[in-house]
Amino acid sequence: MRDRAKIYDDLLQVQARVTFPLEHPLYQFKIWEQSRKVLDLGCGNAFYAKMLLDDYPDKVFTCIEKDEAMASIARERYKGIGLEVITGSYDALSGDFEFDFLLLRHVTSYLPDRKAFFKWVKEHAASTAGILIIDADDEHFLIKPNLPIFLGGLGKFREKVNNDGGQRDVRKDIQGELAEIGFQHIETQRIIANSKIPNTKELTHLYMCLVAELDIGSPLPQELAAELYLWALDPRSYIQYGLFGSLFVMNYDNFEDKRIFQEV
Ligand SMILES: C[S@@+](CC[C@H](N)C(=O)[O-])C[C@H]1O[C@@H](n2cnc3c(N)ncnc32)[C@H](O)[C@@H]1O
Repeated sequence: MRDRAKIYDDLLQVQARVTFPLEHPLYQFKIWEQSRKVLDLGCGNAFYAKMLLDDYPDKVFTCIEKDEAMASIARERYKGIGLEVITGSYDALSGDFEFDFLLLRHVTSYLPDRKAFFKWVKEHAASTAGILIIDADDEHFLIKPNLPIFLGGLGKFREKVNNDGGQRDVRKDIQGELAEIGFQHIETQRIIANSKIPNTKELTHLYMCLVAELDIGSPLPQELAAELYLWALDPRSYIQYGLFGSLFVMNYDNFEDKRIFQEV
């Protein structure tokens, strides 16, 4: 029987390792290049923020996490390296706090009152701040062959997000909501991770086991463990799942250099 914090820590690491390479094009924008103070709300164990810091050591990260166990793992693991971890929600930050870039990765769907949060964002954003929202895009989700026990648990997990006051599918709604507070939508990239990408099947299998362990219980019930094990061994089994990344910029019209991609 493993502790929830340990399972969640493993799960976030595996999840980030699978999709971070596919998310790289989302960081090839001027607005990210020019930003120094990055706010990562709902950072979990901050494993993802640390991967970003490794690639972009010019940035300073403020990471906020409401789950005390996750926040302490992050604080302990990454102390002294330009990545501050604060326990709580965005209102734990002081009144004069300002960010250049806000990262919301797999957290927007959990926020019960986005309107209040976006009001806070408007008050704490630098005049040309950027926002990147990365979240699930379930439209392309597919597993072959069918895994009834695993998918039953996953369905309940997705329902729970909505029942707890969140919204699983935020992709379409956020554009209008952020426009209302002065953030222009620059681009949305849709990403489909799939098990034909080298190493992805192995890592995704591990991820599926961890999701099941977190949602259904540890250790995994025997039938479920067997279902997942046989799926991993089947050379024709397949999975694909979608994410989206939407980039927004405040006062985009005032940007001197609007170029996003290189000119050749
Ligand atoms: C799915 S995890 C994503 C973690 C991390 N952003 C990543 O991409 O690996 C979502 C995290 O957001 C945290 N969270 C949800 N609502 C929050 C809030 N209002 N303030 C701070 N953290 C929050 C949860 O506790 C959870 O650890």
